[in-house]
Amino acid sequence: MTNRIVSGIRPTGNLHLGNYFGAVKNFLKLQEESDCFFFIADYHSLTTHPTPENLNYNVKQVLAEFVACGLDPEKATLYIQSDIPETAELYLFLNMNAYLGELMRVTSFKEKARKNPNNVNAGLLTYPTLMAADILIHRAEKVPVGKDQEQHLEMTRTFASRFNRMYKTDFFPEPVAYNFGEELVKVPGLDGSGKMGKSEGEGNAIFLIDDEKTISKKIMRAVTDAGPTEANQTPPQAIANLFALLDIVSTADTAAFFRESYANCTIRYGDLKKQLAVDMNNFVAPIRERIIDVVSNDALISKIAATGREKARESASKTIEEVRQIIGFKTI
Ligand code: TYM
Repeated sequence: MTNRIVSGIRPTGNLHLGNYFGAVKNFLKLQEESDCFFFIADYHSLTTHPTPENLNYNVKQVLAEFVACGLDPEKATLYIQSDIPETAELYLFLNMNAYLGELMRVTSFKEKARKNPNNVNAGLLTYPTLMAADILIHRAEKVPVGKDQEQHLEMTRTFASRFNRMYKTDFFPEPVAYNFGEELVKVPGLDGSGKMGKSEGEGNAIFLIDDEKTISKKIMRAVTDAGPTEANQTPPQAIANLFALLDIVSTADTAAFFRESYANCTIRYGDLKKQLAVDMNNFVAPIRERIIDVVSNDALISKIAATGREKARESASKTIEEVRQIIGFKTI
């Protein structure tokens, strides 16, 4: 089997720190040694009905952000999902063996249906089948994603093994969510609750394009509490989230210092936030500068998309040809 890696990101806004540490960062290493496919999931983003202008703008922006993060079109295949119609065909095949009950039980579907009861469309329901098609179209084995995608990967394995059983083949591997053999990552947001995300409300996410002032403002407004009242208390989620962000962008010494000062009740959240804002900006600044550079270079972006399209189609057309034969379509 090949050592193939696939992952994607929806172009529903700029990339944030969660996208970077959940998915992109893995690719920076993996592209050196494996056959990597990294794509912009523009089919997936249609579940929320973007305008054509918005969709187009976001796809271009995210492709520029991939490159600015260090994803290298010479080493990895960077492409746009809708450039590969074979994915849509595989999605159709997989949907024939995807069942209403299992699709309705998926946590992300239930959450989205609850949040937007007026837009429970079939694309939303079959989101995991499209995701499985993205992965299986390249017969990938590893899928670098954040913790939130774990259940979708489980569905991918279910669809792959069901196909294999049905057609008495071992054609599809059963891919796993991957983070260098470590725990999958969940980068917390700034609103004191769960994960960092673009749809979690204003100020919750740090985007790679955010300027210094915006970063500082968001961090200074992050939710905290009145402070610890006794030694060695377990911090509440909002504070634990800030420590987790320090772990990501600050030195180990800095993170340890603030944890210690929480434990002995001397912590000043203002100081923690100021330090976090500085470290965050130091992390984001070089990426931000490259984004600004790349995004204005239309010719470069078009060239990257065209190269990716060609490489991804080569792999996808091979798979779909074999799948058609396995299913029993005649090759006339
Ligand atoms: P999306 O666009 O929501 O997120 C893209 C990637 O970023 C990760 N991520 C996070 N990781 C850690 N902490 C966070 N706070 C955080 N927020 C986002 C996600 O886990 C993901 O890896 N369905 C996918 C896109 C997709 C895909 C695929 C991924 C479509 N087809 C095939 C892998 C393989 C999604 O909506 O990701």
